[in-house]
Parts: sequence; C-alpha cells; structure tokens
Amino acid sequence: MQYSRISLHPISGSLGTIVEGVDLAQPMDDETYAEIKHALLDNLVIFFRDQNITPQQQIAFGKRFGDLHIHPFIPALEGHDEIIQLKAKSGANDNLRLANQWHPDLSYTNDPPLLGILRGVTIPSRGGDTMWVNLYKAYETLSEPMQSFISGLSAWHDVTKTYRRQELQSEGGPERYRMTYEKSPPTLQPLVQVHPETGRKLLYISELTTTHIEGLNPAESDALLQMLFDHLNWKELQCRFFWRPDSLAIWDNRCTCHYAVRDYDEPREMHRVTVIGKVLN
Ligand SMILES: [Fe+2]
Repeated sequence: MQYSRISLHPISGSLGTIVEGVDLAQPMDDETYAEIKHALLDNLVIFFRDQNITPQQQIAFGKRFGDLHIHPFIPALEGHDEIIQLKAKSGANDNLRLANQWHPDLSYTNDPPLLGILRGVTIPSRGGDTMWVNLYKAYETLSEPMQSFISGLSAWHDVTKTYRRQELQSEGGPERYRMTYEKSPPTLQPLVQVHPETGRKLLYISELTTTHIEGLNPAESDALLQMLFDHLNWKELQCRFFWRPDSLAIWDNRCTCHYAVRDYDEPREMHRVTVIGKVLN
C-alpha cells in the first residue's frame, strides 16, 4: 500500500513501526483510519509519539476499531470503565513476573481481544520499555516437522499459572483462588492459529498463562512448552519500544506477545483500552 496520510518508520526488522502524520486529538477521516489499520495489520504493532490526548479521546479512538472490553480483574481509571490503569508498584509482586513474561492479553478467556491501545502517562527516567514478538515469524521459523507436529494440538491457558502457588499458601488465598477460578476458568487454545484478517498461520502461546498441552503426558508437555517459550526469545523475532509520556502503542493481540521490561524503580503509569470482536471495523 502507498501511504499518503501517514508515514512509517520501522523500529526493527520483524515488527513495529512508528507512525507519523497523525494527531489523535483531532477527528480522523476515513482515509487516515484505513491507512492506520493497514499499517497495523502489516506491522503488528504501531507507535505514535507526542499524543497528548484525554481518556475520552483514547476511548473514542479505540471505538474506531471496534467495541471496547471491560477487564475482569484490573481496576479501571476512575470515571472511565473502558480504560484500565496499569500502575507499577515496587515490592512483593516483583518476583512473580506477571507482565514481564511473554503473553498476549487475556488469552485465558474464551474470546481474547483484538487490540491493545496503550498510552504512556508517567514514564520512568530510565527503563520500563515494552517488547513485542512476531508470532507469525515464531511459527514460520520452526522446522517443518515441528510445525506439523504442533498443528492440531491445543494448550490450556490459566490466569492463575504464575501466582497460584503463592496464592494457595497465603492468608485468604485459597478463597481468592477459588473465586478467580470460577470467574475465569482455564481455556483451551489451538497452538497454531490462522489470523482471521491476514490468513497467516501463527504460534499462539503465552509464557504467562499456558500451563500444558492437551493430550501429551506431563514430561512431553513441559519439554515442548519450554522449547516454544525459548523460541519466543529469539531476538530476530522481536522489537523493543522506548516510551516517553504521551507515546501510544497499538498492537494486534492475535499475532503478537508482549513483555513489559521490569528494570525500573520509579513510578510508571499507563492507560490501556482493549478492543474486542472478530475483525477490526
Ligand atoms: Fe499485557
């Protein structure tokens, strides 16, 4: 596609591009929206700098792409149910590695969302980058025998995978765990999926929530999952974004995992809206 409204400045060889030429505080015409959507499907994650927009404007921008999601667990920004407020706190949870493992958002639900739209509000003076990995390339760089072995297999995704053990040993934890499990029981997701808009195959896996592969015995499942998690760590499959206040990222949650690098000890606050549905508007 020839872009006339926007210009693209890729940040890695595998995915991710900075988009210039757009002011998200202004109403957006259909041609500009169509170019942004194309850039997103083509680059998997797109970034904008210097977008000093209000929560209402972030919500309105998200609604161009589809209906918005209300998160089952993460608290909303006061007065704005569609925005979740991601505030990093140093302390007890740091060792649990929640956002700093490779994951798509909400893969443990029956209908994982299409997009995340994240805006930097308070950014540490150093550190706090976010990384993304290209799940098409993750699939394509497996050998053909491995591609055919995992095609047709499905894996369980469980929101409690990372913190279950600590929760079960803490005061009141077993009851909280039971409520979480009832609200959001594990889901089975195919390991190899076809993107509904691009038609490309991808490896769908989450270091954060994937617990085991259906039909394999535990040793087989553990070994295969470890190999696949390690595969996401190939630097050639990734990009890394350095935030500034008012930077905004949009990622295709169907074909990427992300990883929030936890290397800072200053306040960090991000606002996310999440788009649901089968395909983008
Ligand atoms: Fe996330």
